[in-house]
Amino acid sequence: MSGPVPAADPGSPYPGSSIGAPDPSRGAGSGEPAGPSPRSGAARPHRAGRGESLRFAVTHTLPAFARGVSAPRPAVGSLLGAVGQPRWSAATLRSLRDRYGGAPVLLGGASGDTLVLLDPADVEDFFARPVRELALDAVDKTKIFSVLEPTGVICAHGDLREARRALNDRVLGHHEETHPSCETFRTVIAEECVRLTTGPTLPYARLERAAQRISRRIVLGDQAAGDEELARWLLTLRQEGNWGAVRRGPTPANRRLYQAATDRLHVYAPHAPGTTLLGQAMKTACDPDVDAVGQAHHWLLALDAIGLIVARTLLLLAAHPAEQTALYNAPHAPDTGRLRACVLETLRLYPLVNDLLRILRADTTWRGVPYKAGTHVLVPIGFLQRDSSLVPGGSLFAPGRWHTEGAEHDPRMAPFGHGEGRCPGDRLGLMVATEICAQLLRAHHLTKGSPRLDPHRSLPGALNASGIRLTLARS
Ligand code: HEM
Repeated sequence: MSGPVPAADPGSPYPGSSIGAPDPSRGAGSGEPAGPSPRSGAARPHRAGRGESLRFAVTHTLPAFARGVSAPRPAVGSLLGAVGQPRWSAATLRSLRDRYGGAPVLLGGASGDTLVLLDPADVEDFFARPVRELALDAVDKTKIFSVLEPTGVICAHGDLREARRALNDRVLGHHEETHPSCETFRTVIAEECVRLTTGPTLPYARLERAAQRISRRIVLGDQAAGDEELARWLLTLRQEGNWGAVRRGPTPANRRLYQAATDRLHVYAPHAPGTTLLGQAMKTACDPDVDAVGQAHHWLLALDAIGLIVARTLLLLAAHPAEQTALYNAPHAPDTGRLRACVLETLRLYPLVNDLLRILRADTTWRGVPYKAGTHVLVPIGFLQRDSSLVPGGSLFAPGRWHTEGAEHDPRMAPFGHGEGRCPGDRLGLMVATEICAQLLRAHHLTKGSPRLDPHRSLPGALNASGIRLTLARS
């Protein structure tokens, strides 16, 4: 939906949506209000004042970069959590929404103008627009990902992007109910999880190592299970990617490291079994520009993050004993349907991608207001999906909400995004995370988790996975 949005929307499906509501702030303060331009008659955007743009940068954007976009920096994350940065960021976004009546707000920044969307109806519009118009390869994102996966789908646009996306969709089983190699992946997970329950405590580092072995076995096959050298190279590239937005492009050292990692993937490729992601990519006919092997960089990046999701899910379950008990009220306990909802709820509270960022590829209009090609468009989904005025009990752990019909397509809750840009690894990633949790809880239950979370109060805005320690007992 492009162009003007209908006026007042009394039957809005979204609580808190202010589409069509009167704008209480018109004409107030330092920001430039929307309204018809005296000369052209066209509506003008709400442009935030310099102070507001600066506040947004200091409380929201800069901390996001400091936490690490392609490789988390645990020490920085802990520090920002301890000083209350997630609350500052939420307060900034709330004040922008209040001041501009929920209308899209244009903020200035180092990479140009960014239109920030804070109303669910605008977010729905964002997901509905075609990727050719509202593209994923935003400037800073491309600079970061060009270090670690220069031929990945995220860095591409136009026909080449579509060809890469089609390959990803097919290999990752995006349109399948279950991945064709699901049974093989379950066996891999079961094998790797055995050694995780041998002691009474499970520190994050052990879980992370197992999750990364699972990741390499799923993407490259058993041949790569113990390839710690590849893991180190990829970690270094991801850490370098964190600096991508402030550099002109990948450094010569980055390029050499990327080449070494890619050469290693090419060594594995001819021997990758047909059940692995790389094996399937090799069997899929595609143009050489698509770079089937190069796509594996992102698959490893995404699957390597599963340990982090599992650690947070189990920590939340340890703090919510009734949710944990309910997992065992099923004939084949633990109930994987319930566990899957727990993983989704964890991702709602602690998304892997906090901000969905796009770039306008052509001049266009939003709510009847024209915007130039090159304008960035940002949905602060991490803020929106835990904001109680939009999602009831937004900062509480309530996995049951994911059993409501349509929940996985609700624009207010989008840990995987929606529409054409939606994560193609959504089902695979959910399956792997759920299955690891299920393996760990099959013969054990969680007795304690550290840090301790209070289930009756708002959960902390950030949860540093590397500090998580779980205690398990045999059931
Ligand atoms: C389970 C946790 C995961 C989460 C929370 C997640 C989340 C996301 C999000 C939010 C996006 C960007 C969507 C947007 O900008 O609208 C994305 C993109 C992507 N994800 Fe995932 N993802 C996960 C797992 C995976 C897995 C396991 C894979 C592959 C093995 C994968 C592959 C991709 C790819 C290739 C893209 C780029 C899509 C494009 O540019 O069209 N993801 N993911």
